[in-house]
Amino acid sequence: MKILEITGGTKLSGTIRISGAKNSAVALIPAAILADSKTTICNIPEITDTDNLCEILNHLGVVTKRASESIIIDPSNIKNNEIDEEYSKKLRASYYFMGALLGKYKKVVMYFPGGCSIGARPIDLHLKGFEALGAKVHIEGNKYTVEAEKLVGCPIYLDFASVGATINIMLAAVKAEGKTTIDNAAKEPEIVNVATFLNNMGAHITGAGTSTIKIEGVKHLHGCFHEVIPDRIEAGTYIIIGSLCGDNLKIDNIIPEHLDSLISKLQEIGAKLEIGPDYIIISKGENYKTTNIKTAPYPGFPTDLQQPFITLLTQCSGESKVEETIFENRFMNVPYLCQMGSDISIRNQTATIIGPNKLKGKEVVATDLRAGASLVAAALVADGKTMITNVEHILRGYENIVEKLTQVGAKIKSREI
Ligand code: EPZ
Repeated sequence: MKILEITGGTKLSGTIRISGAKNSAVALIPAAILADSKTTICNIPEITDTDNLCEILNHLGVVTKRASESIIIDPSNIKNNEIDEEYSKKLRASYYFMGALLGKYKKVVMYFPGGCSIGARPIDLHLKGFEALGAKVHIEGNKYTVEAEKLVGCPIYLDFASVGATINIMLAAVKAEGKTTIDNAAKEPEIVNVATFLNNMGAHITGAGTSTIKIEGVKHLHGCFHEVIPDRIEAGTYIIIGSLCGDNLKIDNIIPEHLDSLISKLQEIGAKLEIGPDYIIISKGENYKTTNIKTAPYPGFPTDLQQPFITLLTQCSGESKVEETIFENRFMNVPYLCQMGSDISIRNQTATIIGPNKLKGKEVVATDLRAGASLVAAALVADGKTMITNVEHILRGYENIVEKLTQVGAKIKSREI
């Protein structure tokens, strides 16, 4: 098992360059099979999630070639093989192969495990969208068989602005006959990135980034060249770290507009940010004030930054509250932050944080990706050494996190135990 050893207390200076967005890349890679010819996607982060998706592509007979941060995907000899659980259980985003294979072949058979540590995470909205397009869904345990004589575009309303359902329905609808409208669609920037990719292939999608997306089905899609947008959650994580222990720490290659909710919350507590066209420079501030957070679909405060932000709130003077409205179990970092010396209590879906509290290095566990990020942030400001186990969770979503932090002065190393 991999662990991280971090000795806190150093100021971080220099530049951290943000990688391509995990939550865009994990949809773009499956979407590439919709094309009849070769696609090149650049700025793909080198993380285990993208590696695992390429394994699934290879299982389908799709040739992939990684060239540093680009992937060349050639689906010309693809086979519509069943996707076994050994593949799909490695990451939840494997469910994008449902929409892509249904859209391409009108049939997909894949084994898909439910849930994960942060919540039940059902896919009922995805399946409802597929059925609305004319597919029949048969579920036997973890085995999903989704097939249709033909897919016919139609109006689809999402009961919740689900990111995954919005993208998966788009993937199934791009080659359906006629027009599909997705109402109450999610508006995350990653959805715009996927829609742009599909349009570069020859799809006709309008409205991505708004709550109403229109898709005019087409017969063929061709390969193209595409670029992954910068990862706003990776960027937000390092900006939060900079507000905890930065000294003119530059977070480079970002789209500041994608971080508006975080930036306004940081300004509320008194953080000093210099905001450039594609970077933010941040230093540790003094006497941070408290603030309250309520997570919401984009452009609201992102649930993926709630956990790292709680670490920052442990250093604010007074009482702050964080309400998590998206996932039912997304405070698993809190017991470990309390072990490190913070004062946090949870009631229903709201955490109350009283600070500031000096944190002390401890042995802690990364229970999920963003909980792990929260503990890395805490370890960087804690007195002494922190050992974080289960760091596979962290390496899934943060490309080269040890190298990126080391190069700006952090005392961090990873080792096998
Ligand atoms: C995406 O998950 C992201 N993952 C998550 O990031 C992110 O937290 C989430 O969107 C919200 O922004 C990827 O993009 C790979 P949802 P997704 O569908 O698509 C419920 C990270 O840390 N729901 O918007 O699964 C669901 O249970 C990860 O990078 C249904 O009930 O999120 C949850 O409570 C974590 N039925 C809520 O909606 C459905 O059919 C949000 O889910 C689908 C979702």
